[in-house]
Amino acid sequence: MFEEAQYFAPVATRDDGTIEVELAASHPGFADPVYRARRNAIAALAVGHVPGTPIPTAEYTPQEHEVWALVSRELAIKHRVYATAEYLDAAERLGLPKDRIPQLQEVSELLQPLTGFRYLPAAGLVPLRDFYGVLADGFFHSTQYIRHHSTPLYTPEPDVIHEVIGHANALASDRYSRLYRLAGGAARRVESDAALEFVSKVFWFTLEFGVMADQGELRAYGAGILSSYGEIEEFRGMDIRPLDIARMGTTHYDITKYQDVLFRAESLEHLEDVVGEFWETCDDESIARLAADAR
Ligand SMILES: [Fe+2]
Repeated sequence: MFEEAQYFAPVATRDDGTIEVELAASHPGFADPVYRARRNAIAALAVGHVPGTPIPTAEYTPQEHEVWALVSRELAIKHRVYATAEYLDAAERLGLPKDRIPQLQEVSELLQPLTGFRYLPAAGLVPLRDFYGVLADGFFHSTQYIRHHSTPLYTPEPDVIHEVIGHANALASDRYSRLYRLAGGAARRVESDAALEFVSKVFWFTLEFGVMADQGELRAYGAGILSSYGEIEEFRGMDIRPLDIARMGTTHYDITKYQDVLFRAESLEHLEDVVGEFWETCDDESIARLAADAR
């Protein structure tokens, strides 16, 4: 299946109205009742959030802030080698804290003056049409929890490290953030679920897992690669294919493994010309034609 959303832990509302995050037995935090209580409380913040009001503050432990500090430091070292210049410049502009987990409200306040993007808290899965659609208005749905401290370099779900180090740094770039907005516009424009799936797959293979020729090397701009301590060391050895909308929109992927098929742009201009243009102009019919051509 295709949805990034599928690896989010389900969030249930109990009969008494309280919120429960259903972690799988394989989740590193499954057997930690204190972590699970915090996950439930953080999910409840998002469920209760009223759009237009400040994002509620999540409580993190000192151990969790240390997880952020460790991963943030390790990723920054790797970004110098593996991230595109545009991403590095944007990260510099945004200036995320390195020693503690920023609150999503704070991330929003750093980002908005740069590119107009604001964060919205998400308890877990956000329906695809909402997740992508609001990108057109400059809103980004983000989880607020952090991975379990026992596995600081691994998470089975997108956590605040992925959402903020991966996505907010990219959203601080005028040029990447424009692509996010165009993806949102495309998701709003298409009517069929098949066309929406196609749009979301192009997003997956670009803004989540995209790589490009940059400074004479293959570098990553996708948030999924740039937030993954393991994956960032591996992507240059993957099956790298030319940027191709029809292929990206129809290639299946397994979210539980490292992404082994990647699509390479030759430059940021190339990405904008091919993918930006696609999102700006696509509709159900043009997507149906592309999908047919890819068969
Ligand atoms: Fe993501």
